[in-house]
Amino acid sequence: MRLENRLDFLCVLGVSLRLCVRFFLLAAALPGIASEADVPYVPTPANVVDTMLNLGKVGPDDYLIDLGSGDGRIVIAAARRFGTRGFGVDIDGALVSEAQREAQKQGVADKVAFYARNLFITDISKASVLTMYLLPQVNLRLRPRLLTELKPGTRVVSHDFDMDNWKPDDRVTVPVPEKPYGEPKSEVYLWIIPANAAGTWRWRLGAGAAARDYEVVLEQTFQILSGRATVGAQPAQLGNARMRGEAIELALVARIDGRDVRHEFSGRVSGDAITGTVAVRAAPSQRLEWNAKRVARGKMTIEASARSAPDFVPAHSLREIYIAQEWK
Ligand SMILES: C[S@@+](CC[C@H](N)C(=O)[O-])C[C@H]1O[C@@H](n2cnc3c(N)ncnc32)[C@H](O)[C@@H]1O
Repeated sequence: MRLENRLDFLCVLGVSLRLCVRFFLLAAALPGIASEADVPYVPTPANVVDTMLNLGKVGPDDYLIDLGSGDGRIVIAAARRFGTRGFGVDIDGALVSEAQREAQKQGVADKVAFYARNLFITDISKASVLTMYLLPQVNLRLRPRLLTELKPGTRVVSHDFDMDNWKPDDRVTVPVPEKPYGEPKSEVYLWIIPANAAGTWRWRLGAGAAARDYEVVLEQTFQILSGRATVGAQPAQLGNARMRGEAIELALVARIDGRDVRHEFSGRVSGDAITGTVAVRAAPSQRLEWNAKRVARGKMTIEASARSAPDFVPAHSLREIYIAQEWK
């Protein structure tokens, strides 16, 4: 672990300089912490590995990459359970050798590989599932790369640490009675890389005299959409708008023939086209095809995070991870 990272979180802990130096020397002496490691080695318990694979809906057609793969248990478990291919990278060469031996032993060496490599210079574009058990500030350093280098629909699964204001699409708490730090439970977070749906979209619903033109201008922050809408040149209310990979959902309430009519749209974004259906909650309710075209592209916002400053680091987690290392 880099000296500046250690000192960062020591400052967060607010401990005395003497203690800081002792802590630094202790961490440097711990086995399994390579000199350039950004995160100490703490293995994910087997029940949490299972939950990560389940939440990420990992299957035989996936390609899984574990960033900071330790003894390789996540990649190996996916290959054993589902025949999933993939690789792990770790900065610690001894852990990489251990993972390679374990893959041989468990008969999955033809499906998986492990490399001694820094995760920050690892090509992740091939992943359909990316797993991580890192630290909050490492997740945040990776965040822009995840959102720009991974394909829409790729599942990102993180053990214990979130992505600040990029809220997860799903989350599960797993009991871990033997956890060596914090409360006896683990959090597992799932994000699905959103397609970019920002911009101006137009479509028409209905036929003949009943036909109406719709226009929606969407702004996008991560997977959340907001913006404004018009139906037949009248303003309409836009809500519940979000992406899940390439899938888009949005609701509109439009004033039509003197009544508020709710529309629930769901479809898929492919380039500058959306195809899907809409449920129009009028009397009688009807389901129609939805085909929209993007006439002007927008930019997805990947906000700078308030948490990138060192003082957001959950000091107890870091301290206790290190204490856990000491116990190993
Ligand atoms: C908390 S452990 C997780 C191990 C494994 N993914 C698991 O869940 O059991 C984090 C791992 O990241 C590795 N690591 C830390 N910094 C790294 C970096 N910059 N590049 C690659 N690996 C790194 C550590 O050596 C350690 O094995």
